[in-house]
Amino acid sequence: MNKKTVRDVDVRDKRVLVRVDFNVPLAEGQVADDTRIRAALPTIRYLVDNGARVILMSHLGRPKGQVKEELRMAPVAARLSELLGQPVLTADDCVGPQVQALVQKMQPGQVLLLENTRFHPEETKNDPEFARQLASLGEIFVNDAFGAVHRAHASTEGVAHYLPAVAGFLLEKEIEFLGKALEAPEHPFVAILGGAKISDKIGVIENLLGKVDVLLIGGGMANTFFKAQGYDVGESLVEDESLDTAREMLARSQGKLVLPVDAVVADAFAADAQSQVVGVDAVPAGWRILDIGPQTVSLFKEKLAGAKTVVWNGPMGVFEFPKFATGTVEIAKALAELDAMTIIGGGDSVAAVYQAGLADKMTHISTGGGASLEFLEGKTLPGIAALADK
Ligand code: 3PG
Repeated sequence: MNKKTVRDVDVRDKRVLVRVDFNVPLAEGQVADDTRIRAALPTIRYLVDNGARVILMSHLGRPKGQVKEELRMAPVAARLSELLGQPVLTADDCVGPQVQALVQKMQPGQVLLLENTRFHPEETKNDPEFARQLASLGEIFVNDAFGAVHRAHASTEGVAHYLPAVAGFLLEKEIEFLGKALEAPEHPFVAILGGAKISDKIGVIENLLGKVDVLLIGGGMANTFFKAQGYDVGESLVEDESLDTAREMLARSQGKLVLPVDAVVADAFAADAQSQVVGVDAVPAGWRILDIGPQTVSLFKEKLAGAKTVVWNGPMGVFEFPKFATGTVEIAKALAELDAMTIIGGGDSVAAVYQAGLADKMTHISTGGGASLEFLEGKTLPGIAALADK
């Protein structure tokens, strides 16, 4: 990675402002999934151990520039404190005189979590004055919020213009793994894309087609390809506005693009719907595709055999319904058995891998949803671009 990291700066006794992505799911006022908090621990611990005063900032949800009580950072601070094994100070805001006073009183090794940055409308507008106010809290800026680097917001991009700006360990790790897959993958390189919509993934398909040996397509997005090929997919989700794009991709893919050959279809979009396995050219009228079928699982496993690099983004079916989770779980199992660098990017495929109990069998599970997709598209991510070069 050509960006400076926390290792390249002297943090001792310094006020270090760290952008983390603590945008975590909450349930009944508690953190329901602490994966993103755990993922930031190496950077936080390193800073604590090296005598920095650690000022953390994050967004939580989309409060649209207003204070929303249910989106305060307090539950996150409580969980972080448990995980760190030390108290975590909190503030009522992320800028202003009271926060300044709190920061000035901090001792080396102490950790403060600021209030939700998105309570201010200036955050998502990347307002320079707001960014300057955030920056004034620290002497060094560390970005460890991989999940938010695709956002050019004040706390992810703006602050980097006012302080020496470096990457944290999580950001470094994400760039290393995702970057290696894109820039120097060991071949055979197989990508698996799924999820509901092709329109979300057009950029990713285009970028990956130039790099992979095989691109396996599953999930709802495959339906648009089927329709583009002239199949009747019944009530399946299809994006008619993307049919031409799908045709173009098929034409340009030089046979790299592999589509499902059979599907599990359902008579309703429901967990307890009636289901049957049919060829993709034989979806009964009134039925819809909710998973890839067993022949497709075998075909995809064949294509994955011997792969040295695999990137997976998006489930193969509606895995939230156990009846339609088989395809996704089987692909997770296939990846777990490979002697390959396996990278899971994106929210739903990550959830599926955890649900299958196979997370520890993967080389890298990205903490980014939108960010990992944009990275795989080959886009410049503002939160990374703003950091100091090595
Ligand atoms: C995410 O959850 O993907 C990141 O935290 C970014 O959140 P956002 O989509 O609300 O910007």
